[in-house]
Amino acid sequence: MAQLWGGRFTKETDQLVYRFNASISFDQKFYRQDIEGSMAHVRMLAKQGILTEAESDAILKGLRGILEDVEAGKLAITEEYEDIHSFVEANLIDRIGDAGKKLHTGRSRNDQVALDMRLYARAEVLETDELLKKLLEVLLRIMEENTETIMPGFTHLQKAQPVTLAHHMGAYFEMFKRDRSRLRDIHERMNYCPLGAGALAGTTYPLDREYTAELLGFSGPMLNSMDAVSDRDYLVEYLSAMSVIMMHLSRFCEEIILWNSNEYRFVEIDDAYSTGSSIMPQKKNPDIAELVRGKTGRVYGALMSLLTTLKGIPLAYNKDMQEDKELVFDSIDTVKGCIALFTGMLDTIHFCRERMNDSARHGFTNATDAADYLVNHGVPFRDAHGIVGRLVLYCIERGMALDDLSLEEYQAISPVFGADIYEAISMETCVNRRLTIGAPGKAAMGKVIKVYREYLQACEK
Ligand code: ARG
Repeated sequence: MAQLWGGRFTKETDQLVYRFNASISFDQKFYRQDIEGSMAHVRMLAKQGILTEAESDAILKGLRGILEDVEAGKLAITEEYEDIHSFVEANLIDRIGDAGKKLHTGRSRNDQVALDMRLYARAEVLETDELLKKLLEVLLRIMEENTETIMPGFTHLQKAQPVTLAHHMGAYFEMFKRDRSRLRDIHERMNYCPLGAGALAGTTYPLDREYTAELLGFSGPMLNSMDAVSDRDYLVEYLSAMSVIMMHLSRFCEEIILWNSNEYRFVEIDDAYSTGSSIMPQKKNPDIAELVRGKTGRVYGALMSLLTTLKGIPLAYNKDMQEDKELVFDSIDTVKGCIALFTGMLDTIHFCRERMNDSARHGFTNATDAADYLVNHGVPFRDAHGIVGRLVLYCIERGMALDDLSLEEYQAISPVFGADIYEAISMETCVNRRLTIGAPGKAAMGKVIKVYREYLQACEK
């Protein structure tokens, strides 16, 4: 047991208590941030004359050595320390002696851990965003290649009206684009530095909090020291944004699973992203899509868990807050893994264009357009709706599509129909006459694709 405290205790900590309380098994994940934060703190202490230059040089050198040794695998982070902060401080003192004992001047583990977690999450928010950007690149490529790939659009999972694959993918482009903007908002709001808040009430040393904030790339210091050590809002927001990302991925996965089924056969998942069955030789299963859909539960769970942990905590720091870490680490790893795998799966998926087209053709997805045809010839919409309804019934009874009816059959139900009805209800006409902004018509889609291309290019800069 290596602890940073003990002076006022008369007994050893019970072993079970020690293990229950310790966090090294998971907070070692941010050893790098802990060391970077300490370096900034020490530089500031020297600048303010609280440490001598010699002391600060020795500490910085010692910290750099610890970082290098850990990264090189020469120094193991072991469970004999209570947490990552104790590990670093104890190692520093081992290396440089008494000067190391001055590292913690004007600092508490409360502002230290608040800083470490913020630095860690801040970098991960950007990485999550970068992964989403790669997903958007793949989506946009598929869109560009499929502005003429007709497929049924669904409502209630019933064929509704024809759309294009580009249009369907565009819906997901919008979702993940919003996810990125949420991450950026969060990044901006979380980018304030808690260091220098001390345990809760600041310190009596003349710390320069603006300086450390700047050294660590923050927009500025947090303005209330009690809030600084007890704020975990940014993690709730990050978990919430990650939950929405998972919800989007899960919906997409559900569609891919459906589309990949024997009944739909709209897509075929690449062999590299499918799995087999131990008993049924014919099977090729969409396990990756199912796992992504399944893992959504743990990310939602983490969000609920953290919200519940925080709800009854009085100001300022309380140990309950240590519970934020495992949840957030697990969610970040899960979400990043899911986005990366999903992107690979989507990038290699085969779209069965013929099947999609065929499916759109055989499901009365042009019934609305047949009614619109009558309306354009002066029939009130409600009457037109009834006429086409009767035509659909007629077709269902005979196993036909609207396009298969003869002109006589059309005219038997309404004399308004003319020979141009076939052109009016062809899939291509149905799609390409839908030209309002956001609709699937090729010209409308082309404008949106251009906006998306510019958006992705602007992100490069
Ligand atoms: N492991 C602790 C946490 O994650 C670090 C802060 C400890 N502070 C304290 N006063 N015990 O929150």
